[in-house]
Amino acid sequence: MSASTSAPAPGCLPVLGRDVRAPLVTGGDAEYAALDYAASAPALQRVWDDVAAYAPYYGSVHRGAGYLSQLSTELFESSRATVAGFLGCRPDDQVVFTRSTTDSLNLLAAALPPGTEVYVFETEHHAALLPWQHGGSAAGRVTVLPAPGSPGQAVAALDSALAARVGDGPALVCVTGASNVTGELWPVRELTAAAHRHGARLVLDAAQLAPHHPVDVADLGVDWVAFSGHKLYAPFGAGVLAGRADWLRAAPPYLAGGGASRRVLRAAGGGVDVEWQTTAARHEAGSPNVIGAYAIASACRALTEAGFDALVAREQTLVARVLAGLAELPGVRVLSLFGADAARVGVVSFVVDGWSSPHLAAALSAEHGIGVRDGLFCAHPLVRALLGDAGGSAESAACGGAAGDGERPLNAVRVSFGAGTPDEHVDRFLAALGSLVRDGARWPYRTVDGRCVPAAGAEPVAA
Ligand SMILES: Cc1ncc(COP(=O)(O)O)c(C=O)c1O
Repeated sequence: MSASTSAPAPGCLPVLGRDVRAPLVTGGDAEYAALDYAASAPALQRVWDDVAAYAPYYGSVHRGAGYLSQLSTELFESSRATVAGFLGCRPDDQVVFTRSTTDSLNLLAAALPPGTEVYVFETEHHAALLPWQHGGSAAGRVTVLPAPGSPGQAVAALDSALAARVGDGPALVCVTGASNVTGELWPVRELTAAAHRHGARLVLDAAQLAPHHPVDVADLGVDWVAFSGHKLYAPFGAGVLAGRADWLRAAPPYLAGGGASRRVLRAAGGGVDVEWQTTAARHEAGSPNVIGAYAIASACRALTEAGFDALVAREQTLVARVLAGLAELPGVRVLSLFGADAARVGVVSFVVDGWSSPHLAAALSAEHGIGVRDGLFCAHPLVRALLGDAGGSAESAACGGAAGDGERPLNAVRVSFGAGTPDEHVDRFLAALGSLVRDGARWPYRTVDGRCVPAAGAEPVAA
């Protein structure tokens, strides 16, 4: 394993790991092409440098009288303000630091007014689909809407589901800004307007949107937004839930403990009486992840300074290049809910006739040093719907089971990229995929512990 940093190609932001070399099963090595940004993006060099500069000054947050504690507390709170600015929050919104998008949405699920009706499309990532039905959730009835065929259908389906609501209790819609499977953009502004028309609130899952597009909470009108630092080039274990303060303030603390409590008194009859914080600290019990929060703030600053106009424009050239390249290959089908003209971020999933997706992903890695993802991407109902599978088959990570004539593949390959991706990584991916699809793999593969891996001790496949 070797890694260092170097100047990136012009037009993309410097990230760590550009010089990592990946060993190839066929001999030698290749510069690693990280094309799995949708899972976790590499750290921005700027984020890494900011964290390194702060590290000697690291201290406890909200807990110490010393200089470094004061400095760290100031840094933590100013990071909160930076994130609020990045997201275009309203003045009275709260920014809660969490561990991730999953954590943020579980926090909100636990903070709902009891019995809140929840509306969610079946197309969501599991982090947005499941928290409402989980044990810790305060939600009442959960309505799961079927996959829409267009952005307009999504708005119409939500509109009619909310119109059919009985009673006027609290309701919440949870929707993604950009799909982690297709990369397609969802009509957030219109869905928010539909939710508000019917007295419901909306939380935006911006895990895949925030790294690629500006998100303006006040302008979009969304009530909350959730995202993860590790997808926003800040992989230090923090995430964000930002938005309306009222439900968060009224809810029991997400975790009970120090920091969330303002005063704890011995109760007259035994036990303790607790006065909880009413700020974001209410849901941040325990020592906060100041480095994670600072890293997110640093990424927010770096992306803002780079300018989303320029970042989006460049990323769209990569999207077009990938889609055009895939279209030239025989038997490749790109997964899409909204059709070929849909706007999308740098996330593209596809299947290839005659190939099992795990086999393809394993060969891209082992023979070409290219990291993509295969599977159902924690969005099982969506991928199954896109692959035309009613849901009976289990996800398979095995080499075999290539879909033959008339069979449907069980999972897909996903290539994803962003602000740190050089053009040549995309070109190498297309060339490697082309050679695999046309000429086959150059090495035999086996299923080991359910994963498709290069067969140990084998010889290259004869040309
Ligand atoms: C759209 C979407 N939402 C939520 C999540 C969950 O993010 P995390 O794993 O950081 O909690 C992901 C992760 O892939 C995602 O793509």
